[in-house]
Amino acid sequence: MTTIRTFEDYQQVYRNSVEDPESFWAAVAEDFQWHRKWDTVLEWDFHKPEVKWFSGGQLNITENCLDRHLATRGDQTAIIWESNDPAEESRYITYREAYHEVCRVANMLKANGVEKGDRVCIYMPMIPETAYAMLACARIGAVHSVVFAGFSSGSLIDRINDAGCKVVMTTDGSYRGDKVIQLKSIVDEALEKCPTVERVLVARRTGTRVNMKPGRDAWWDDELKTVSSECPATVVDSEDLLFILYTSGSTGKPKGMVHTCGGYMVYTNYTFRTVFQYQEGQVYWCTADVGWITGHSYIVYGPLSAGAITLMFEGVPSWPDMGRFWHVAEKHRVNIFYTAPTAIRSLEKAPLSYVKQYDLHSIKVLGTVGEPINEEAWHWYHEHIGRGQCPVVDTWWQTETGGFMISPIANITKLKPAFATLPLPGVQPAVMDENGKELMTNNIEGRLAIKFPWPSMARTIYGDHQRFKDTYFSTFKGKYFTGDGCRRDKEGYYRITGRVDDIIIVSGHNLGTAEIESAIDEHSAVCESAVVGYPHDIKGQGVYAYVICYDKPHEEENLRKEIREMVAKIIGPIAKPDKIQFVSGLPKTRSGKIMRRILRKVAEGDTGNLGDVTTLLDPAVVDEIKAGAL
Ligand code: WT7
Repeated sequence: MTTIRTFEDYQQVYRNSVEDPESFWAAVAEDFQWHRKWDTVLEWDFHKPEVKWFSGGQLNITENCLDRHLATRGDQTAIIWESNDPAEESRYITYREAYHEVCRVANMLKANGVEKGDRVCIYMPMIPETAYAMLACARIGAVHSVVFAGFSSGSLIDRINDAGCKVVMTTDGSYRGDKVIQLKSIVDEALEKCPTVERVLVARRTGTRVNMKPGRDAWWDDELKTVSSECPATVVDSEDLLFILYTSGSTGKPKGMVHTCGGYMVYTNYTFRTVFQYQEGQVYWCTADVGWITGHSYIVYGPLSAGAITLMFEGVPSWPDMGRFWHVAEKHRVNIFYTAPTAIRSLEKAPLSYVKQYDLHSIKVLGTVGEPINEEAWHWYHEHIGRGQCPVVDTWWQTETGGFMISPIANITKLKPAFATLPLPGVQPAVMDENGKELMTNNIEGRLAIKFPWPSMARTIYGDHQRFKDTYFSTFKGKYFTGDGCRRDKEGYYRITGRVDDIIIVSGHNLGTAEIESAIDEHSAVCESAVVGYPHDIKGQGVYAYVICYDKPHEEENLRKEIREMVAKIIGPIAKPDKIQFVSGLPKTRSGKIMRRILRKVAEGDTGNLGDVTTLLDPAVVDEIKAGAL
């Protein structure tokens, strides 16, 4: 038994999944089209670390997302697309149309020299073509690396070079509220430093004038004129790469998390159907961008493999006004709505009339993801969007986990505001104390680890398996360390309390403090910087930067502006510091390690008790920092 319809089912299924994980996942995997069934369900060793699911199995994930639905629901909508501009017509793409579009794009890739195993960078906005691009790569066994289209050319360079991408897929421009972003020119700038890229395929979206480099760049619509709308799926192994997706590390450059085909397909499909309790014909809307793992797993692969109707929204929640989400939800009679706490908090601040003017009765299930949700936002969401009648599934997971890990199951798990509640089938959490011992009882707090593999876990960091081991498998021997702190209450419910490392989550975007610091340090006036997060009403966390300059700045405001622009240029606008405090020194230990604990306290406005500062090299800097706090 794998299907869950009652809480007793959940308990039974969970128990089976832990006692005999292989039989459990084999039963789930039976529901897919395989060219060849697996030889072994699971091989693993967390010390190496090595994990293989459905080894020997052969498949193509796009046959499970598209082909297999043609007979049963070929004319059903697969993707509803809603434009940034409310006046532009929505698009309704059936499974059959999606199938042919993906085949055409796949043939275009082939015609441009893309082969199995090649890496393709996708730097595109929220349009159906972006989903086709991902699936087209998967169709021919190429590996996609989607880079969020809000990232700057600097971030794009790092990601293209790290993966050694051969082709970039992009658009002329993209819309964001009332702004047009020149995507193609950002790509042009990046490619001056990306020697591996041979071809750039450009879809039209904004009609913006662009430069096309002869021999390198081609218009997508021209290329599609000559290709067939059938493309046989390349049969791949379960453990072949499906995609690379970059996520921030607490130090160094972003990590290219590697996900593979078989396990990822099985897990995203199962968790999508289970957590949302998706029912045939329901309209499902996840507001994330496809540039993040949420978009990969729960806009594209999970919903499509489940034959769902998935809504893709190009716009932003605040334009043309703060009612846009609710307008779209009413317009398309959305049944399942999945968004981020940061969006909820910003919409909660707007007058309630923006919600009240729309009929949201179609909504049956609500979800959140990306960061801990505060109770106030949870209640607002539950009451005003869910009419007090819809479950809120607070899904805890990560880019690295590929799919939901700890989450309520809609209408089945008893909810507790701000709790991700209970582990899903196959997920075995462990709460660890500071000494690396697992806490076996309830009503405890510690660091969250996972002690057994699940099918969609990342297999490695692209090109750096040692870093994969060091980051995730060295803190607690034989366990996967999540980087999060958590509490397990008397009932065994989990509440995620946030990162315990140097990663900050700004509006649901995962940013490494080291990354932001190195961008700030690029400014010629800056000698050194330290970045911490601080509580921010809407974004969850804001970016607070302490900056040391070579010379005391004359025009502080100007310099702040330049530093912010520098960060936007190197990483992207999401990483811009909200506050910049100029300081003459940083609190460092004798070994030179910055004591971020102190900086965090000051940034939080808590300057009363900074704890022990006696190990500092120069305790006097602390007084200066306190005095200048913003
Ligand atoms: C980190 C992962 C999972 C897709 C989006 C973010 C935080 C995520 C929750 C939640 C509390 C959460 C964690 C996690 N996080 N969901 N429901 N409750 N915290 O993916 O960028 O890889 O970030 O987001 O800190 O480690 P990501």
